[in-house]
Parts: sequence; structure tokens; C-alpha cells
Amino acid sequence: MICAVLMFSGLLMGTLSSPTVFPTSSSTEKKPCRIYNNGRSADCRGQQLYRVPPRHLPPTLEDIDLSYNEINAVHASDFQHLPRLQTLQLQYNNISHIDNNAFQNNTLLEHLDIFNNSLLEIPTVALEPLFNLKKLFMSNNLYKHATLADSFSKFVKLQILSMGGPLVMGLKKKDFYPLKSIKLHTFAIKCSSNLSYYEPESLKVVQTTIMGFDMAVDQLPSALHNMLHDLANKSFQVIQFRNLFEFTYYLGKDDIFQGLRNVKSQQLIFHRGKFNENLLRMALMNLQVTPIKRLRLQYIDFARSPTFVDSGVGSSITNLALDNLDLWYISNPDILRFDWRFTWFKKIKHLSIQHVYFNSVPCDSWSEMEGLEILDVSNNRLQNDYVFNQRCDYSGTMPNLHTFNMSTNDLTSLKDLSSLTREFSRMQVFDLSNNKLGSTQEREDCIWKQNITHFIAHHNPLGSNAFNCLPTTVHYLDLSYCNLDQLEMTYFRKATNLKHLLLSGNKIKFIPSKWESLSLQFLALDGNSFGLISKESFQHMPQLSELSAGNNPYHCTCELHAFVEDTLSEGKINLTDWPLNYRCYHPEPFLNTFISKYFPGKVACDIRLVITISVVVTAAVIMVLVLICYIFDLPWYTKATYQIIRAKYRAHKEKAVGEMETFTYHAFISYSHSDADWVRDQLLPCLENNRNPYRLCIHERDFMPGKWIIDNIIENIESSRKIIFVLSRHFVNSEWCNYELYFAQQRAMGKTFSDVILVVKEPIDPSSLPSKYCKLKKMLSTKTYLEWPQQPNQQQFFWAQLRSVLGKPTETQDRPHSIRKRNSEGRISVIGPPVEKNMPKEDMPDADSKDLEFDEGNGIELSNLRQIPIMVL
Ligand SMILES: *[C@@H]1O[C@H](CO)[C@@H](O)[C@H](O)[C@H]1NC(C)=O
Ligand SMILES: *[C@@H]1O[C@H](CO)[C@@H](O)[C@H](O)[C@H]1NC(C)=O
Ligand SMILES: *[C@@H]1O[C@H](CO)[C@@H](O)[C@H](O)[C@H]1NC(C)=O
Ligand SMILES: *[C@@H]1O[C@H](CO)[C@@H](O)[C@H](O)[C@H]1NC(C)=O
Ligand SMILES: *[C@@H]1O[C@H](CO)[C@@H](O)[C@H](O)[C@H]1NC(C)=O
Ligand SMILES: *[C@@H]1O[C@H](CO)[C@@H](O)[C@H](O)[C@H]1NC(C)=O
Ligand SMILES: *[C@@H]1O[C@H](CO)[C@@H](O)[C@H](O)[C@H]1NC(C)=O
Ligand SMILES: *[C@@H]1O[C@H](CO)[C@@H](O)[C@H](O)[C@H]1NC(C)=O
Repeated sequence: MICAVLMFSGLLMGTLSSPTVFPTSSSTEKKPCRIYNNGRSADCRGQQLYRVPPRHLPPTLEDIDLSYNEINAVHASDFQHLPRLQTLQLQYNNISHIDNNAFQNNTLLEHLDIFNNSLLEIPTVALEPLFNLKKLFMSNNLYKHATLADSFSKFVKLQILSMGGPLVMGLKKKDFYPLKSIKLHTFAIKCSSNLSYYEPESLKVVQTTIMGFDMAVDQLPSALHNMLHDLANKSFQVIQFRNLFEFTYYLGKDDIFQGLRNVKSQQLIFHRGKFNENLLRMALMNLQVTPIKRLRLQYIDFARSPTFVDSGVGSSITNLALDNLDLWYISNPDILRFDWRFTWFKKIKHLSIQHVYFNSVPCDSWSEMEGLEILDVSNNRLQNDYVFNQRCDYSGTMPNLHTFNMSTNDLTSLKDLSSLTREFSRMQVFDLSNNKLGSTQEREDCIWKQNITHFIAHHNPLGSNAFNCLPTTVHYLDLSYCNLDQLEMTYFRKATNLKHLLLSGNKIKFIPSKWESLSLQFLALDGNSFGLISKESFQHMPQLSELSAGNNPYHCTCELHAFVEDTLSEGKINLTDWPLNYRCYHPEPFLNTFISKYFPGKVACDIRLVITISVVVTAAVIMVLVLICYIFDLPWYTKATYQIIRAKYRAHKEKAVGEMETFTYHAFISYSHSDADWVRDQLLPCLENNRNPYRLCIHERDFMPGKWIIDNIIENIESSRKIIFVLSRHFVNSEWCNYELYFAQQRAMGKTFSDVILVVKEPIDPSSLPSKYCKLKKMLSTKTYLEWPQQPNQQQFFWAQLRSVLGKPTETQDRPHSIRKRNSEGRISVIGPPVEKNMPKEDMPDADSKDLEFDEGNGIELSNLRQIPIMVL
């Protein structure tokens, strides 16, 4: 029992867990319809369906396209589950049967197209429920009659109705009665090429704005008369006759277009069919007196009438006052020379001749088109010599021409065209797009006399030379796709009216910074070859408000980023194709990056920030240096060192041999100006007016005049055995004394400081001295100096002390200071009684002088300490 339960549950489990496979037929079968627009639309066009596939159509469908299939019947079940259907397209099938209740459940249907099928009768019963119909296309079926049932009078919303077919042999008076009270927009009727009957007033009841006839009257030309009569005294926008004469040219004599006189239509179109000269003359003769203002002849098969007898001006059309005359796709260009004159163009305002492929324009044609305001001869394969003939006199021709369209031809010479149009004095718009202008090289300048405002020349191989040949009066210039690789700045300076400039799709490699165009408002530069662009590029275009410059190989730099940022934020210039068309091309890591997503570092790009930072840093460094200098008196040292080096260099130059070791003076006396009297009156007499006089050097007397003072100082210090400093409060403040002290210090570094004698004339507070005189301070604080006593009795002792410190006076090289002159080498020569040359270099200082002696090591150490800041610098 338990086992059975277990087995059962096991089976159950197994069944549940085993994968269940359903055959998925739908995946193998090709889906015939594409459902889109959230299940509201279905596209089943051209799927070779032989029946409507209702299974694949969701009930939410609102429009369905089943055209170009092979459906041959519509059944009741096909659309009944699509109650929301509004548009149903079944044209170009082979439908020969529609069930009576096929559209029973499709009352919302507004647009039904069953054009070009095989219906033998109008499906009146099936259509009955469709009282919402607005557009019903049901022509080109195999009906034999075009009679509408009374139920059509219920389609009060109907706007467009097309009906008839190749088997309808004619129209009867009652055929369209049900439409009597319906105001249509468009009505089209097709009948057999072999129209057999037309009962008068058949179409009289039809009220429509646009009327289309597809009825060939080859067999029954008189029917046209009746048709036009039915149209009389009603207002139409367009009346189109298609294939009026399908197989034969009309050779009758009756004026079948007479009825046109009473037809009020804005436009009349003859589409396809055969027209000979006589038939066209009939039509035009009547058009001269109709209210019809626009005539179009397209795809017409035109032939001259051999029977035409030219009876001179009387047989010409001279009063055809049309606003528009369009001659399109006419295989025979003879139509232009209709009746051998161009008089029928005389009062045309807008003449458009396209796809007529005429290959000459006689001189007289230009003078006939005197009323012409717009001449459009685009799409004609015209070449220069077809239109411009040097033997024609163009002066005074085309006096009213405003727009000349020569687009899409084979023109090559801009110069010829300027010669042709030079006399067209009112011409403002010139369209030369899609030609071959520039393919022949021209050097001469072109002359444009008239005021051309719009010059359209896109898609021409013009090249940059063309700027010499463009009118400068333009407001609008289109040179897109013209092979331009650079821009001619002189042209833009001259073209001062230029507001709108299109240069898309050229090869412009750079945007000149001097591009001046004061009126320019719109500029298109997309699809060129430049990589750099900046605010400067457009700075001489003050009016510029719209710019498109996408699809260029941009170099992503700060400059570009700044341009974009500024342009977008200022909002003065609208970048119309931003951002999708702007991508980086360079540098490589950014290839194809959107410029809108390119963010270079703010610091790297902001030049003001960079400048600010560097200025701040520099200022800080300078301030630190200044502070260091201030603390360590560096400038003074620098200056002094510089002076020494300079002086030593000179001394070195001047003294070839090292006779520096012999001293000229016993002592060099350094004193300040205020102590000069004391030195002169006391010191010198006491030391010099002796039996054994000392030779002393003082700057007032012994410095060589004309020689640089620092040189003097150094030279004299060098050639003195001892240096006496006369210290007073003024001493420290004297610049020259400072130098002397410093040089003494320098000299002591090399030798010994025992050569320095300090005479303190007035008491000095050592702490008031600048810190750079540390040695002086030390000497003063350790009392290794001679003090000038104020009491006269002590002064004798002072002199004795001084003399002993100076040593014996005879031991110097005698060089009297009074008589000297320079020799040619600039060295000092000495004349006078020579005393004891070659004295021993080393002198023995007296015991007293020991007080003044420095501990040598200490001195050097101190000097070294002072040197450190110099080395730091
Ligand atoms: C017709 O449309 C209605 C909804 O409008 C729907 O309920 C009905 O089932 C449809 N009839 C048929 C036969 O599908
Ligand atoms: C259209 O259908 C008819 C029968 O209704 C058939 O004879 C004819 O061959 C079909 N035409 C085409 C092009 O399929
Ligand atoms: C439908 O169109 C085809 C191809 O354009 C054409 O051959 C056929 O004659 C047309 N049928 C009718 C009834 O006009
Ligand atoms: C045109 O129809 C008539 C009868 O209405 C007939 O006699 C004639 O042969 C037909 N012509 C052509 C070309 O079908
Ligand atoms: C059209 O109106 C004119 C007068 O305005 C009249 O002479 C002519 O008979 C009318 N034609 C028709 C067909 O009603
Ligand atoms: C000139 O003709 C071409 C082609 O027909 C047309 O695209 C263009 O807009 C015309 N130019 C002017 C200024 O009308
Ligand atoms: C061109 O314009 C100028 C100034 O606007 C005017 O003086 C001149 O007469 C114009 N030329 C022509 C041919 O219209
Ligand atoms: C810029 O131009 C675009 C496209 O022409 C337009 O949609 C947009 O409104 C313009 N923006 C400004 C600020 O003018």
C-alpha cells in the first residue's frame, strides 16, 4: 500500500518534472504581416497572400495594408473581429468577389482602397454599413457601368471618390445622382479608351474641388464638348485630363475646347495623350479668354500639324495671360517653337520647362518673354552654347525676370552665364545648382551688373577659384558641395550684404581667423575637413546667430571645448546641429567621442587659472627669496663679492708678475668722512712727521684719481701691510668704510687677522652694529682694540701703542705717493729715492699686538658662517 502510494507519487513527480514539448508551428511558418505602432498597424504588403490572414491580425488594428497581393475574395470572417479598423488597403489584388456582410463590423472604416482589382460590379451592399467613409478608391475594376446605387447618398462624409474602369464604355445621365448633395474634394472617373457614349449632364451633379478625367475621346471627340459644358459655371481648383487622345491625333476642324471659356478652375492639367499643333492651338485660343490661370502639359506626345498654314501674326497666340505655364516631360522640344514663334510666352509670369531637353534657344525667344518673372529651365541637360549665343543681343530682354532657375543641367561656364544674364536688370535669384560649373578652367573675372541677391550653386565642381566669379551683391549664397578647399577672404569683405551662407560638404581645411562678414546671420560649415574651430574664428561676424559645423574631423582640444562651452552658454549663436554631428577625430584616444562628452580638465584649459596659479607661485617664491635676503643681507654680500671678483680680475690682468707680496704702505687707514679732520690733524702728523716716518694710505690723498674707487680700495689694501680702522658712530654708516671693512675681512681669511688694527675714536655700542660685522663686534666685545683717549696726557701713550702695533716703519718698499704717473701698460711706476728693496715679507709683530690677534681658526670659522647664504643663492 505504502509502496503503491510512493510509486504513484514518483510517477506524478516524474511527469511533472519531465519537460513538456509543444509543437511550435508558428515559429516555422513565416509571419505575413508586420504588426507595429502598438498593435494598431499591420503591414502585409506584397506578401503573395491569396487570402486575408485573419489569424495574424490582432483586434486592436486600426489600419492594415494588404496591397500588392493575390487576394481574390473578401469573406465575411476576414475583418469582422477588427471593429476598430479605420484604414483598409486592398489595391492591386485580384479581388473579384466581396461578401455582402464583409464589412458588417467595420463601421469605423474611413479609408477603403480597392483600386485595380477584378470586381465585375460595384460592391454596393458590402459598402452600405460604411457611413463613415471619407476616402473610397474603387476605380480600375472590371465594371461595365459606372452607375452608383442610391445607398451612396448616405456617405455624407465622403471627400475622395475614384471610380470607373477600362470596361466602362460611357456615362449616363443618372449615374452620379446619389452624389447630388455631397461636397467632394476629389472626384476621378475612368472610362474605356474606346468611349462610346456620354450623355449630356452626366457629371453636372458632381460637386468637387479637384476633378480628374481618365477618358480618351479618340472615338468620340464631341463628348469633350459635353463634358466641358457640365463643368461650366462651377469652381474648381484643378481639372485634369488624362489621355485625352490616347491613340490618335485629333484631326477634326471643330473647336472641341470651346467649352473651356466658361470653366472656372485655377489650374488645368493635360497628362499624357497625344497633342498636335492644331489641338494645342484650339486649347490655347480658348485659354486666352478663360479665368484659368495655370496650365500644365506633362508627358504629352507632341507633334507638329503638317496641315497648319501660317497666316502670320494673326494665327499666333499672343494674349495667353497665365500665371504659370509648366511644360514637363515633353519628348518633343518643338513644342517650345509652337507656331514657330515664342509669342505664347509673352504674358506668362512663371514659365517652367523641365525634362524637355531642348538644345537651342534662338535669340528672338529672349525678347518675347517680356512678362516673365520666373523662368525655370531646370532638368534639361542644357549646355553653355545652347543658351548663350554671343551673336544674340540680350540688352533690354527679360525686363521683369526675377528668378532664373538653371538647376540640374550640363552648364560649365559661370562666365558665359554672367554674360547672358548681365542685361536682365531685375534678376535677383539665380539657381545654378547641380551643374558642371568650374569643370573648365576660367581665369577672367565675371561681371554681374544686376543686383543678384540669391546665388545658389551647390553641387558644382567649382573649386576655390570661383570666388573671383561670384556676384558680391548677394544676401544668400549656397556653395555647398562645390569642391572648395579654402575661402577667399577678399570676397567676403566685398560681399557686405551676405546674410546666409551655405558651405556644407566642401573640403575646407581651415577657418581663417580674419574672416570678416559683418552681416552674416546663418552659416553652414558642416561636412568639411577642418579640425580646429574657436571663438576667434567667428569674431568678425557680429550678427551670426545660427551655425552648423558638424561632421568635421575635430581635434579635441581645450580651444574647441571652450568654443562649445561659451557658444552654448552665451546663446547668441545657435549651433543647429549640436550635439549629434560633433565628434572628435583627433587625438586618437578620443576618436569618435561625442564632443558633448569630451571634458578636458578645468585647470588644464582655463588659461586664466593657469596664469593666476603661476603668478601666485612666482610671487610666493620671490617673497620667500626677498625674506631670505632680508634676513641674511644677501644683496650686500652679493654686491661685495661681485666687486671683489671684478677688482681681482682687473688686478690680475694688470699685474702680470706676482709682486703683490711687497707692500707699498705700512698701513691703510679706513675712516669715515666725519673723522677726516682727526686723521689729518692728529693721526697723520704723529705717524708721518717722524725721524722714521710711516707710509700711510688715506683715500683723500693716495687714491689714484680716475681709477675706480673699489679698485683703489682693493689695490691699496692689498699693498698695505696693516689696516687701521678708525671707528666711530659714522664709520658704520659709510658705504665705503663698509667695503673696506669687508675687504679686510676677506683678506684676513687668506692670511691672518693680525693685520687689522681697530682704533675706537668714539665709544661704540657693539650691539648697535649690523650683524654682518660679527668679527668687529667680537673684537670690540673682547677689547682687542685701541681706544682714543680724550685726555691729552693719555694720547701720547696711544701713539706709542699704535706705533708698536704698526711695527718699525722702514720695512716697506719705498714708493713715494707724491710723484707718480702711469706707464703705457697702466701699471704704477715709482720715482724717488729707493729705500731698501726686497724687504722681508714677514714682519714680526710686537708683543702688544698680540692683543689684536685673532684666533685664526675662529676667524675662518666665522667667515665661513657668513659665506653660507651666498652659497645658498
Ligand atoms: C463586432 O464588434 C463587436 C465590438 O464592437 C464585438 O463585440 C463583436 O464580437 C464583433 N462581431 C464579431 C462577429 O466578431
Ligand atoms: C485573377 O482571378 C481570376 C479568377 O477570378 C483568374 O482567372 C486570373 O488568372 C487571376 N489573375 C491573376 C493575375 O492572378
Ligand atoms: C491593374 O494593374 C496592373 C498592373 O499595373 C494592370 O496590368 C492591370 O490591367 C490593372 N487592372 C485593371 C483592372 O486596371
Ligand atoms: C470601339 O467601340 C465601337 C462600338 O462602340 C466599336 O465599333 C469599335 O470597333 C471599337 N473600337 C476599338 C478600337 O475597340
Ligand atoms: C454659365 O453662366 C453664363 C453667364 O454667367 C451663361 O451665359 C451660361 O449659359 C452658363 N452656362 C451653363 C452651362 O449654365
Ligand atoms: C530650381 O529647380 C530645382 C529643381 O527643379 C528646385 O529644386 C529648386 O528649388 C529651384 N530653385 C529655386 C530657387 O526655385
Ligand atoms: C542695385 O542696387 C543699387 C543700390 O541698391 C541701385 O542703386 C542700383 O540701381 C541697382 N541696380 C539694378 C540693376 O537694379
Ligand atoms: C536653435 O535652432 C534650432 C533648430 O533650428 C531650434 O529648434 C532652436 O529653437 C534654436 N534655439 C535657439 C535658442 O534659437
